Amino acid sequence: MKENFKGLKRSHMCGNLRESNIDEEVVLMGWVQKERNLGSLIFIDLRDTTGICQVVCDNTVSQEIFNKAAKIRSEYVLAVKGRVRRRQSVNKDIPTGQVEVLVEELRILNKSETPPIYIKDDDNVSENMRLKYRYLDLRKPSMQDKLKIRHRAARVVRDFLDENNFVEIETPMLTKPTPEGARDYLVPSRVNPGNFYALPQSPQLMKQLLMVAGMDRYYQIAKCFRDEDLRANRQPEFTQIDIEMSFVDVDDIIDMNEQLLYRLFRELKGIEIELPIKRITYRESMERFGVDKPDIRFGFELVDISDLVKGSEFKVFSGTIKNKGCVKGINVKGYGDEFSRKDISNLEDYVRDFGAKGLAWIKVTENGITSPIAKFLSEEELGDILDMMDGEIGDLLLFVADKEKIVFDSLGNLRNEVAKKLNIIDKDELKLVWITEFPLFEYDDVENRYVAKHHPFTHPMEEDIHLLETEPEKVRAKAYDIVINGDELGGGSIRISDPDLQKRMFAALGLSEGEVQGKFGFLLEAFKYGTPPHGGIAYGFDRLVMLLTNSTNIRDVIAFPKTQSATCLLTDAPTEIEEEQLKEIHLKFDLR
Ligand code: AMO
Ligand code: AMP
Repeated sequence: MKENFKGLKRSHMCGNLRESNIDEEVVLMGWVQKERNLGSLIFIDLRDTTGICQVVCDNTVSQEIFNKAAKIRSEYVLAVKGRVRRRQSVNKDIPTGQVEVLVEELRILNKSETPPIYIKDDDNVSENMRLKYRYLDLRKPSMQDKLKIRHRAARVVRDFLDENNFVEIETPMLTKPTPEGARDYLVPSRVNPGNFYALPQSPQLMKQLLMVAGMDRYYQIAKCFRDEDLRANRQPEFTQIDIEMSFVDVDDIIDMNEQLLYRLFRELKGIEIELPIKRITYRESMERFGVDKPDIRFGFELVDISDLVKGSEFKVFSGTIKNKGCVKGINVKGYGDEFSRKDISNLEDYVRDFGAKGLAWIKVTENGITSPIAKFLSEEELGDILDMMDGEIGDLLLFVADKEKIVFDSLGNLRNEVAKKLNIIDKDELKLVWITEFPLFEYDDVENRYVAKHHPFTHPMEEDIHLLETEPEKVRAKAYDIVINGDELGGGSIRISDPDLQKRMFAALGLSEGEVQGKFGFLLEAFKYGTPPHGGIAYGFDRLVMLLTNSTNIRDVIAFPKTQSATCLLTDAPTEIEEEQLKEIHLKFDLR
């Protein structure tokens, strides 16, 4: 029953037929979305990447075609030739709904078994099934749209950067570890027994070497590999728009990137973002929002009440401050009535996950204050707190007392959680913000040493360089992140281009001379021969496409993504390998 399409040449795409095509003879090819047999007429919805068109087989036109059509099932692949005519019952839901094709020739190019998942958007199929049968899942128009938007976004990026004299350069996949804070994916070398390549966590070092090489402006839509815990917006293998520029400082990079972001959102969403994009320092971001990727679409900002309660009878507050901690709160303005005691107790459980020991609260109602801590506070203290936090009738004030880090963590996350619970965030709103002046280091409690907050090639702010050895925690970096609606979309920095400063940085990170030579000797060597000042940025391209397509799951914008446990359900990767192959790469396992 299978035929070929010899002699037939596709003349139109299914989704493009309109009234203007009426009376034309057309040839369409595609998949059967569905078929309906009405006894003397068979209607087939034929689908290709542009959409759906109705084709009709009429037994008064040809009994032979009709009989063949009667055998057709969903997802058969067809070629049809016929004349376009006006549809009797117009379908307003599809762009081709005014017309249909009366079939004069029908060929079944391929049959299909009943597909294990429906090719439609509102299916209730588990994600595992969708990933196993990804090629069927990708037949859905919504999935195809996401991939097309991804493609268009990449084109806009390429066009923009090309216009601005950036050169796209590929960098190796088999390389040396690039420290970006995750574990490496390693590849054993057959020809160098016992040695491994690392897949790049980013092209960071290569792009810096390209600046040493005098390429001036580089970009790449680059694959990156990170073995880390996966979340809704993380994949082990993901894509960056990676950018590096020479002879620039922070403002130059930010300006160029604002133009790029403007173009992207204009071309792909029809939104003209406001330039310049707001900038706030890391410190300000932490103090106001508790996090370094603030969602600024809503208020509930943090307020520090430490000074008001340092002498309080309420030991939870005053004791914490005595122990060098602080007390901060947020005002869930106007939504006090939405939270019952039980709800607040759930919020308390929520902040415990971030290390908070409790969640103190004050509700301001028409009948006065409701609060489990009011009895521990003096009139004056209560009054001052309400003043400082602008507490009015209808408000709910929530407080955490602890070390600053825990207070930021718990209130910062609580702020987002409360807004989510209240469902007050406008999903169509886009709020962009640059976070600048990140700390250069952060203290790693597990390793008991300072680690680079960004990566070890980040330039300290000039005015803080003298603190490198004495008060590293105070050194701020020429580093910036672009944050959209509470998600980190990209980040970058000005790089160290002075070999001596780079050595001081490595020393501050506790790396020995030997370690530095072993890991980064090639970079320090390169820096000896005339390094231009340079800096750059990288965007999570998948995350950008999530924003452009309103997706909440990073897997939806990647053709063949991996699961939360880093497997590919389609191919079953990763898989065990044959003994022979293991021998070739000189590996023996000791699995426990
Ligand atoms: P960074 O590590 O901040 O910087 O990465 C840049 C951006 O990449 C995205 N990203 C991810 N996306 C999906 N899955 C992941 N596992 C993942 N990890 C990171 C984020 C992030 O903002 N070389 C530096 C950039 C530079 O300094 O120029 C770098 O890689 O959106
Ligand atoms: P307690 O006296 O321990 O019952 O605490 C009284 C109130 O203070 C309760 O609502 C606790 O949730 C809250 N609380 C306890 N410890 C803290 C803390 N570290 N920060 C904020 N609130 C706390």
